[in-house]
Amino acid sequence: MSDNTLWFEGIRFPMVGFSPELLREVRDKFLVKDEDTITVTYPKSGTNWLIEIVCLILSKGDPKWVQSVPIWDRSPWIETQHGNELMKSQKDPRIYTSHLPLHLFPKSFFSSKAKVIYCIRNPRDVLVSGYYFTSKMKIAEKPETLQQYMKWFLQGNVIYGSWFEHVRDWLSMREKENFLVLSYEELIKDTRSIVEKICQFLGKKLKPEEIDLVLKYSSFKFMKENEMSNYSLLPNDLTTEGFTFLRKGVVGDWKHHFTVAQAEEFDKIYQEKMAGYPPKLFPWEEC
Ligand code: A3P
Repeated sequence: MSDNTLWFEGIRFPMVGFSPELLREVRDKFLVKDEDTITVTYPKSGTNWLIEIVCLILSKGDPKWVQSVPIWDRSPWIETQHGNELMKSQKDPRIYTSHLPLHLFPKSFFSSKAKVIYCIRNPRDVLVSGYYFTSKMKIAEKPETLQQYMKWFLQGNVIYGSWFEHVRDWLSMREKENFLVLSYEELIKDTRSIVEKICQFLGKKLKPEEIDLVLKYSSFKFMKENEMSNYSLLPNDLTTEGFTFLRKGVVGDWKHHFTVAQAEEFDKIYQEKMAGYPPKLFPWEEC
């Protein structure tokens, strides 16, 4: 992999929109407030779906906001130059997003009551989703094959570093009251229950018909058609022909991509890296 990405503390970041100075400032100086709601994920785990749900919960299902403001402005990524700039004018209570690993997350969070929703996804599906995303975006080295991307992924040599370390480190927070762990698989299986769980976590009481609207406007179909959420507003110089952000939106797509040998190679490393973690934390282990 040629080095056209930014390195910070052993983690790869895209060259565009990031800087070591900002990453350092976010970790050391960004002030997390008790009223903040933060969506945190490893990339390709359902981040944007979750943001859409949170926005719609806050607007009680009214789609005006999600249909008029780009998703990256509604819940800015604090570690990006664009998102960090926007944060300066965000009014309380704030909502924002991050893919940062735990050790690079703002230190002030750890003494705050800010609410974090952390969404995990089967890393095999994360890998496939990341492979297509990286192949069509001009933000990082393009993999030539899935095999090559798998090698990078298993080494943690991809944007935002190792999935295994991200998930292990963030899950160490799972007993905290202000930390909610969700999974993409649960969201797919029973979206309504998970939306209700998020409402409860955020202290928002929605009527059943308002929940219906949250479900409707955050569905794959509606998000795919909503240009504020489907990434069609990204500048052309960042994407290549055939880029589709809302690609498939299903569980288990990896089964159509991994060979038997690749699945075995992945399993071996997964077992080593996730040893000691109760399988019940990971819904995909039951699929
Ligand atoms: P696929 O590439 O497998 O389709 P992130 O937002 O973290 O980058 O994750 C992107 C993944 O979430 C993509 O997965 C995308 O299709 C999926 N996704 C986005 N919105 C969704 C929705 N409303 N329902 C189901 N999946 C969704």
